[in-house]
Amino acid sequence: MKLMRITAKHVQSRYFNKSLRRYLGSSCVDLTAAEVPTLVVGSSRELVRRLGSQVEVRTAFITEEEEGAFLRELEPGLKKKRYEFDHWDDAIHGYRETERTTWGPACQNILNRVRSVAFEAGSSLLGPVHVLDLDKAGYIKPHIDSVKFCGSTITGLSLLSDCVMRLVKDDAPSEWLDLLLPRRSLYILRNQARYDFTHEILKDEESVFNGQKVPRQRRISVICRNLPG
Ligand code: OGA
Ligand code: MN
Repeated sequence: MKLMRITAKHVQSRYFNKSLRRYLGSSCVDLTAAEVPTLVVGSSRELVRRLGSQVEVRTAFITEEEEGAFLRELEPGLKKKRYEFDHWDDAIHGYRETERTTWGPACQNILNRVRSVAFEAGSSLLGPVHVLDLDKAGYIKPHIDSVKFCGSTITGLSLLSDCVMRLVKDDAPSEWLDLLLPRRSLYILRNQARYDFTHEILKDEESVFNGQKVPRQRRISVICRNLPG
């Protein structure tokens, strides 16, 4: 899966990003004040509105039983691998991963539902589903998925833990969105949100959404992608 990601140019400047975030903190705005809970906040109302249509978070997309079905199917294989921590040049820290093409009926049903909400009928999908198991201390650095291997839409289920996904405009890092991804939710990134913004999953120490700490546990994501058009 290494080929799938291009690490962002500005990843190295972590200090810059940190001071920028402090500066921007007070300009955080809600997507829809009336909607509870808020799942998307960003650097400006305008950006939240504009990019909001290309970013979706669906809470409780799967039930606890369905989450259990994924775990039963995935745990035996994942347990045989060790979390990888020490590749400094990797986009991901503290992870193990696998790909899977054939699933038992319960998981297959869920994946059909995921695909029917995320992709247009008839679009060509990347065959294997990508499973990424992040340790409690694991995180994903800012990156853009390879445009050579993946198309305009990335969708993922979050199992076992809530987390924060941050999108930052690749050529204008003052433009950002934070997404709260609750356990058992589905997120969808499309078009500009996928091509022009890096995405990352925050580490436990930095896992804060709209001023609220979002404690990170071990998290497994089940990710579907389409093929480039
Ligand atoms: C990736 C990635 C996000 C997630 O593997 O490229 O961005 O939800 N994963 O785990
Ligand atoms: Mn990615």
